[in-house]
Amino acid sequence: MCYIIKIRKKGDFMKKLIYRIYQKIMYGLSYLIPFKEPMLIQGDNTLQKLPAIIKERALKNVMIVTDDFLKKTPVFKKLVKDLQALHIDTYIYSGTEPNPSIELILEAYHYYKESTCEALIAYGGGSAMDLAKGVGAKVARPNKDIRKLRGTLKIRKKIPFLICVPSTVGTGSEATLAAVISDIKTREKYALMDPALMPDVAVLDTDVVASLPKKLIAETGMDALTHAIEAYIGHSNTKKTKEKALSAIQIVFNDLLLAYQGDRDALSRMQLAAYQAGVAFTRAYVGNVHALSHQLSAVYHLPHGYANAVILPYVLTYYDHHIDKSMAEIYDYLGYQGKISGPEKSNQVIESILQLKKDLNIDDSFGGLIKKEDEPKIIIQAFKEANPLYPVPQIFEKNDFKAIIRLVNH
Ligand SMILES: [Fe+2]
Repeated sequence: MCYIIKIRKKGDFMKKLIYRIYQKIMYGLSYLIPFKEPMLIQGDNTLQKLPAIIKERALKNVMIVTDDFLKKTPVFKKLVKDLQALHIDTYIYSGTEPNPSIELILEAYHYYKESTCEALIAYGGGSAMDLAKGVGAKVARPNKDIRKLRGTLKIRKKIPFLICVPSTVGTGSEATLAAVISDIKTREKYALMDPALMPDVAVLDTDVVASLPKKLIAETGMDALTHAIEAYIGHSNTKKTKEKALSAIQIVFNDLLLAYQGDRDALSRMQLAAYQAGVAFTRAYVGNVHALSHQLSAVYHLPHGYANAVILPYVLTYYDHHIDKSMAEIYDYLGYQGKISGPEKSNQVIESILQLKKDLNIDDSFGGLIKKEDEPKIIIQAFKEANPLYPVPQIFEKNDFKAIIRLVNH
């Protein structure tokens, strides 16, 4: 018996060593990838600059990917009017659904082709941007099954000119080279990752988010915080990703609650936090929180930011001494006072997250939502998503994911 445990432990050690070597290689290779940032346009009334940007590139037909709610808003209608005023033919695909599926991408792709469009505007939250990127990937690789584009560097061809206009303050997809899509057949959620998917332009116009419901401000803001923290405590940072992550974390702690309470300037700063967190995690990756939340969203259709917000403090607490150093750096950056030890600083940051969640009225747990019979699949898929790709502070075994599920589901 003892001998079997010894062999298993040795096997686990070797497996983790291989994952770490893989992550080091990916980190080295990342220096060969052109991590260009999109052209960033931020502030009040910046959306009105967008038609001229399209016109400058001699693009005549554009498709806007959005949803039925947003297309009826005055800000959206004005954008369409401004585009038409410059004789840019505008086709609106408003069928965006949360967690866009392969079928939805294909439907939008066919509309894009039928309308002979030449450029894409994603106007919405993470789902609209993921959907537009999915369409872009299919335009670049028309003969490939989208499932075959899963993973890293499978597209390797230019996609159409892509402008992102985020309508939430969390996803950061306007600054990332990833599109997360859902496979209904297999009930999985996974990412396509390729520099080709990096948007050309990101427009952060406060008017676009001004009427965002409070609940969405809270949940998407917590998604931005999760991106920034998971990137920062991971093992694949650069000087730039650290700076962006810390700045985003600071903005969230200073401004998310104010934005939730209706402060427009704070909301505007939250747009920047979401963008900065996107710049950080597209290079430094997310981690075990996202690995689990993606699978829970795929099975129970949970809002992404909400799922992350519930899971984040549990995973950080579980990491324990693995994140003492990085969390102490976050504590110091936030300007917290007190000469306390590294572990105490880490606990203090976790306490601040719990307090923020409480102030934002976000649940402490899923309260029994996760069914026992679903657990094995969720655990396997979360493990598969995290390993070997995510350079997490502590590599989770399937048992670790099981333990987290028990904690978040009480
Ligand atoms: Fe996220």
